Amino acid sequence: MANNLLAGKKGIIFGALDDKSIAWKIAERCVEEGAEITLTNAPVALRFGAINALGEKLNAKIIPADATSMEDLENLFTESMDTLGGKIDFVLHSIGMSLNVRKKRGYTNLNYDFMHKTFDISAMSFHRVMQTIWKLDAINDWGSILALTYIAAQRVFPDYNEMAESKALLESFARSFGYHFGVEKKVRVNTVSQSPTWTTAGSGVKGFEEFFGYADKMSPLGNASADACADYCVTMFSDLTKMVTMQNLYHDGGFSNMGMNPSVLGL
Ligand SMILES: NC(=O)c1ccc[n+]([C@@H]2O[C@H](COP(=O)([O-])OP(=O)(O)OC[C@H]3O[C@@H](n4cnc5c(N)ncnc54)[C@H](O)[C@@H]3O)[C@@H](O)[C@H]2O)c1
Repeated sequence: MANNLLAGKKGIIFGALDDKSIAWKIAERCVEEGAEITLTNAPVALRFGAINALGEKLNAKIIPADATSMEDLENLFTESMDTLGGKIDFVLHSIGMSLNVRKKRGYTNLNYDFMHKTFDISAMSFHRVMQTIWKLDAINDWGSILALTYIAAQRVFPDYNEMAESKALLESFARSFGYHFGVEKKVRVNTVSQSPTWTTAGSGVKGFEEFFGYADKMSPLGNASADACADYCVTMFSDLTKMVTMQNLYHDGGFSNMGMNPSVLGL
């Protein structure tokens, strides 16, 4: 159901790879709610992913950008403002990749070159995005910047590996930059901590299938789907949440406040 919550707003969505991606669902919902958007992903993802189909469906221009390249990011924001006809109102960062996870290296045997790359892609990219917005003065007053994160930033999930530290860093960037954006530009910055979700990035984590079932049982409302996450992100981009900033917002069916759920033990 559409309520025109984003009528007249312009946004940039990072990270839609295929129709399982959380960013894919968020892009669809934003347009359904009246926003005009551009889509972006790493050049390599544009070659292998299905983002062109999404661009056509949503009438959204696709602008390649490697989120670790300042040059690409500057070009992305400049071109998006040209295409959309003015400053941006909202930005979604939905980017995650761990080379150590991909190469199946366990937490006690991590390669540090890989770790640098993981932090750069999954966390520093968020600072890069915000610094680019800041320097280009690319966002309207009362705009909203969001990144997706996971509760492994606060609690131990052994197979999440170095992504745990990536997410802790990402969430800290949201708080620290959120201060500056709030004071100077009345812009809010938050992270949404989402349930395990079946996507390319999510299912790359060892034991994902079993863990997905565990989290689903543990959460009183069950796991939050990507579609539900899209609904939530729409509210965070809308004018209904103007005073929420520097928060890590759990969107997880209640998982984060559970200690034990009898159904996990089969009781
Ligand atoms: N799937 C889950 O269980 C889950 C749970 C909580 C949070 N998240 C977070 O949600 C976000 C989106 O992940 P997803 O699960 O939709 O998976 P996904 O694989 O569909 O999305 C990850 C995206 O990151 C992009 N990316 C990788 N390197 C990049 C680079 N250098 N420059 C630009 N983009 C790059 C990929 O191309 C891809 O589109 C991530 O931040 C992820 O950590 C996922």
